[in-house]
Amino acid sequence: MRAIDNTMGRGVTHIHPDSHQAAIANGCEVHPDAQIGNFCRIFRSYIGPNANIGNGVTIGGNSEVDCTIGDDTRVQSGALLYHGVHIGSLCFIGPRCTTTNDCLPDATGRDWSHRFRETHILDGVNIGASVTILCGVTIGKGARIGIGSLVLKDVQPRWVAYGSPAHHVRPIPTIAGGKVKVNP
Ligand SMILES: CC(C)(COP(=O)(O)OP(=O)(O)OC[C@H]1O[C@@H](n2cnc3c(N)ncnc32)[C@H](O)[C@@H]1OP(=O)(O)O)[C@@H](O)C(=O)NCCC(=O)NCCS
Repeated sequence: MRAIDNTMGRGVTHIHPDSHQAAIANGCEVHPDAQIGNFCRIFRSYIGPNANIGNGVTIGGNSEVDCTIGDDTRVQSGALLYHGVHIGSLCFIGPRCTTTNDCLPDATGRDWSHRFRETHILDGVNIGASVTILCGVTIGKGARIGIGSLVLKDVQPRWVAYGSPAHHVRPIPTIAGGKVKVNP
């Protein structure tokens, strides 16, 4: 484990002793109870208690804008979670999930702040493997995104969505007071 030192420094960096060869930049706040896999790269981010980050995950970017990973969230190996991506508690982010933060990228290197969009993945969301998410999207609480989906629009809370582009397929029923309650 080593900490890299090229960042602007928000002041707090906790490095979990179980992680090997991960690079956690100064200015990150990684809860001591979070598990960080091997070969992760983490910049300007907050990672909550009991979060579990797999191997080779990229989180955040060299920017003023943070990335957050909530409590008890699991991020599978190879995921790319760029700055401006905010993930709630108890989420599952499948392997090689790809997020974005520039809605109209180009290679000029000019200021792109007007093209920057945040992405919000709310509490209890489950995202399958190899899902790609366009920036600016919000995935509602408890939603489930099927494997290989391309998410271009908001997903409603407690709905299954999949496909390319992803579409709402069915609501997820909840048990409330002994009765099945659909899409509260
Ligand atoms: C979405 C999911 C949860 C299943 O939802 P479901 O509504 O129960 O779907 P079913 O399995 O009953 O399939 C229903 C139909 O949708 C299709 N379908 C299911 N998932 C799909 C997906 N991600 N993309 C496109 N079509 C999909 C099925 O092929 C099936 O089509 P058919 O009726 O023409 O045969 C599941 O397919 C999935 O994607 N799980 C995530 C797995 C994963 O990525 N795990 C990562 C951890 S290792």
